Amino acid sequence: MLIAHSIAELRHHLAGFNDHALVPTMGNLHEGHLALVRQAKPLADVTVASIFVNRLQFLPHEDFDTYPRTRDSDCAKLEAAGCDIVFAPSEQDFYPEPQTFKVQPPADLADILEGHFRPGFFVGVCTVVMKLFACIQPRAAVFGKKDYQQLMVIRRMVRQFALPIEIVAGETCRADDGLALSSRNGYLSADQRGEAVHLSKALQAMAAAVRAGATDLTRLEADAMTALSARGWKADYLTVRRQHDLQAPTPGDALVVLGAAKLGATRLIDNLEV
Ligand code: PAJ
Repeated sequence: MLIAHSIAELRHHLAGFNDHALVPTMGNLHEGHLALVRQAKPLADVTVASIFVNRLQFLPHEDFDTYPRTRDSDCAKLEAAGCDIVFAPSEQDFYPEPQTFKVQPPADLADILEGHFRPGFFVGVCTVVMKLFACIQPRAAVFGKKDYQQLMVIRRMVRQFALPIEIVAGETCRADDGLALSSRNGYLSADQRGEAVHLSKALQAMAAAVRAGATDLTRLEADAMTALSARGWKADYLTVRRQHDLQAPTPGDALVVLGAAKLGATRLIDNLEV
């Protein structure tokens, strides 16, 4: 496995290959990320994983400085998963001057849900992903459904810019108790880790109610928020949306239940297709 620390090194390593599959990450890798790498393997000649904690997608009060940076163990895991090239640029190399050209996603996709609670988040995500696409020029890129809105926004960006990149979705990897794997789970105390599964349990209960024919979604959402608050969470949203654009559902739409909530200082997100 080759490790590129700069865009120039990356381009040098990629030169010999026909086509590339990309798995973008911010590192601190877990089984969910590695499953995406294994999914990417058959899609192209060479599998590239990027590790870059992207300052542009963090708000000033968020965890950019403390986000876990574990490059050596990440590289060992990537090699074992069959990754061919790791792109792990320094911030100085990736953003040598302030990244003042940005990709501005539309408000109807990017200012709802995560974008409502983390203003500017999807500008940061779209900008870094567009730049990673420019550096790697992949024929395919794999994103996890764990970040459902991110996957939807990237799909639409690729479509509107007519990028010749296939966007492939990976299923959410979960711990045995059902908690979605996340780098941020590492912030949880032992007690909080025990409690954390109740976010996915809340989503499961909502999905079951929808399948059983519940029609008053406003009530369902409010009750789920109240129940999670009673357990000590601070819920940002628990909501039933249609899958394709995450707007309020109309009859016949395929649905997804999405949630974001804070346990202490740690903000967790999860979702479940109905
Ligand atoms: P990061 O949170 O490191 O996630 C990298 C990729 O792994 C994303 O596509 C995410 O959806 C996926 N992923 C995370 N947890 C997962 C799980 N439990 N099961 C399956 N897939 C999972 O998402 C980002 O980084 C950044 O926003 C990025 C796209 C790299 C841009 O900076």
